[in-house]
Amino acid sequence: MLRVGMLTSGGDCQALNATMRGVYKAVTNNAKEPVEFYGFEDGYKGLMYGKFRLLNDDDFSNILTVGGTILGTSRVPFKQIHEPDANGLDKVAAMKETYHKLQLNCLVMLGGNGSTKTANLLSEEGLNVITLPKTIDNDTWGTDMTFGFQSAVDIATRCIDEIHTTANSHGRVFIVEIMGHKVGWLPLNAGIAGGADIILLPEIPYDINKVIEVIEERDKQGKRFTIIAMAEGAISKEDAALSKKEYKKKLMNFPFPSPSYELAELIKTKTGREVRVTVPGHVQRGGAPDPYDRVFASRVGAVAGMYVLKKKYGVMVGYKDREMVAVPLKEVAGKLKTVDPNANIIKEAKSLGISFGD
Ligand code: F6P
Repeated sequence: MLRVGMLTSGGDCQALNATMRGVYKAVTNNAKEPVEFYGFEDGYKGLMYGKFRLLNDDDFSNILTVGGTILGTSRVPFKQIHEPDANGLDKVAAMKETYHKLQLNCLVMLGGNGSTKTANLLSEEGLNVITLPKTIDNDTWGTDMTFGFQSAVDIATRCIDEIHTTANSHGRVFIVEIMGHKVGWLPLNAGIAGGADIILLPEIPYDINKVIEVIEERDKQGKRFTIIAMAEGAISKEDAALSKKEYKKKLMNFPFPSPSYELAELIKTKTGREVRVTVPGHVQRGGAPDPYDRVFASRVGAVAGMYVLKKKYGVMVGYKDREMVAVPLKEVAGKLKTVDPNANIIKEAKSLGISFGD
């Protein structure tokens, strides 16, 4: 009997179900022995508190196109993993106990950066773990692509597309705030795809005067509007020059819901222009996976399934130079894949006239 545990952890995304379906099908279609699949509910919490259910063919039928996760998810911060829970439970010991009690051969974890750190810890503790790179942020180290990213790019792009007509009608400056924590892949790609005039990324601190220069230059050219694709984690040069402590203090007394609103206020004051902020927020994680993600999820899922059968543990299924590769978890854990300000994609975007406010 082959016993496989599976869980989804951290922020959800469009292709989690499609990926789990890939894993399940690859294992059950190719295993030479009977298989039991255990789905843990709400991420690592399910493993900690022994909340699981046996999964069968019906669970994986008709879910290729369904967003979210049939297992539920949660965030269990890695920095609190060694702290006991409210009832004094040792989280790591509890997860190991559930794994051993169920006599699992391995655990398949679909998650992003924080979740991979926990997976690596469990692997170091002797559990057989395979992870799959999930996140709309595409910031997982060791893989060129994560599932969920392309679907989120589609949604954020559509949002910028649709802002164009209303921005033009009113002759306004629009800031579209795009997700991605402290990493700018999503705003960068959606910004280029949506034809944004200015893209502001966490990796390239912006100068407010440069942003205003671009808006005024567009005015002079008779362009009625300016669209700014701004990362939720974008930062001005002024703020980037603050010490960590000073910046934290600023954020504690921050009178705006997010940095986009602060930038809107500054542009309004300095140019007298009408400025609006649009925040698509979690819409970017919602709905069905796009065709790219369905293919990618099916492929990474199938490869993870084959790793289960080959007992290839302690790895993340990564995608490098158009091939699936096994990346050791200890190499992935704790690292982020950020946008290099000198990357060709930035140079190419600049050559098209897109400003990064630098
Ligand atoms: O990591 C995915 C992500 O959507 C980020 O882009 C965003 O910063 C964060 O999660 C939002 O987290 P939450 O769903 O906990 O509000």
